[in-house]
Amino acid sequence: MQGIKDKVIIVTGAGRNIGQVYSRRLAEEGAKVVVCDVIDCEETAGIVRAAGAEVLPLHVDVTDEAQTQEMARRAVEQFGRIDGLVNNAALFQDLRSDENKGFMDIDMDRWDRVYSVNVRGTFLCMRAVFPYMRDAGGGKIINIGSGTFLHSSRGRMATNPHYVSSKAAVMGLTRAVAKEMGQYNIKVNTLSPGGTDTTLNAESVQPFKEETDRALNRPETPDDLTGTVVFLLSPESDFITGQMIVVNGGMETY
Ligand SMILES: NC(=O)c1ccc[n+]([C@@H]2O[C@H](COP(=O)([O-])OP(=O)(O)OC[C@H]3O[C@@H](n4cnc5c(N)ncnc54)[C@H](O)[C@@H]3O)[C@@H](O)[C@H]2O)c1
Repeated sequence: MQGIKDKVIIVTGAGRNIGQVYSRRLAEEGAKVVVCDVIDCEETAGIVRAAGAEVLPLHVDVTDEAQTQEMARRAVEQFGRIDGLVNNAALFQDLRSDENKGFMDIDMDRWDRVYSVNVRGTFLCMRAVFPYMRDAGGGKIINIGSGTFLHSSRGRMATNPHYVSSKAAVMGLTRAVAKEMGQYNIKVNTLSPGGTDTTLNAESVQPFKEETDRALNRPETPDDLTGTVVFLLSPESDFITGQMIVVNGGMETY
């Protein structure tokens, strides 16, 4: 298998949870990792260094165009190029208080903020890395979506319509941009996780006691996602672009 050794990969939203686990796995595979977030990235940077990889931690608000451009510039200044971008930053766990609100109860400032981070942020980061990837002859972009819009709401309440629709927009954005980027050998795909328990890892996860709708009857952990991230960043996936890969243990089948 051709891997990602010495590739330069930017991970947004890398300061905690799934983004931190992506960064650790990329480091273990020998990549150089640029870890970006609005929260402090030093813990993630320490994990990457402990795995023996080079790291550049940056404070980046993905909604701010100038900051995303500076992110790309600093990555190239430090490591000479950008091979991959994992657009992972999102308003997700910070939306817990909206979870059981009906669609009439969603605050419109909140709606705008979710779209600003999840959609505009994804778009701006792609635009920031594009000139460097084009001039280098190619690159790989993974936009993190969500399987959530495949099942919609599980109850009668319209849970998180702003979040759910923003992640559908990420898939649409991927499809549109992948077409344009093909001529530059830049591959753009969506990775959509199922509901993922960020408190668990490959060692601590246990089977569910009850039957669920999931074919693989256990909780999903961040470790379940990292193999697909490595694959989509590696030459092994070089003819895959514009697609969405759903990693959910066979909950919804897409
Ligand atoms: N955990 C799940 O069940 C699940 C399921 C499907 C998809 N996802 C997606 O996976 C990704 C990670 O999820 P998570 O569970 O680790 O959520 P999380 O909320 O812990 O992680 C999001 C990260 O993005 C950062 N962020 C927020 N606003 C930002 C901004 N303006 N600029 C830069 N960074 C910003 C946060 O600080 C945080 O580190 C998200 O895109 C989420 O939508 C998660």
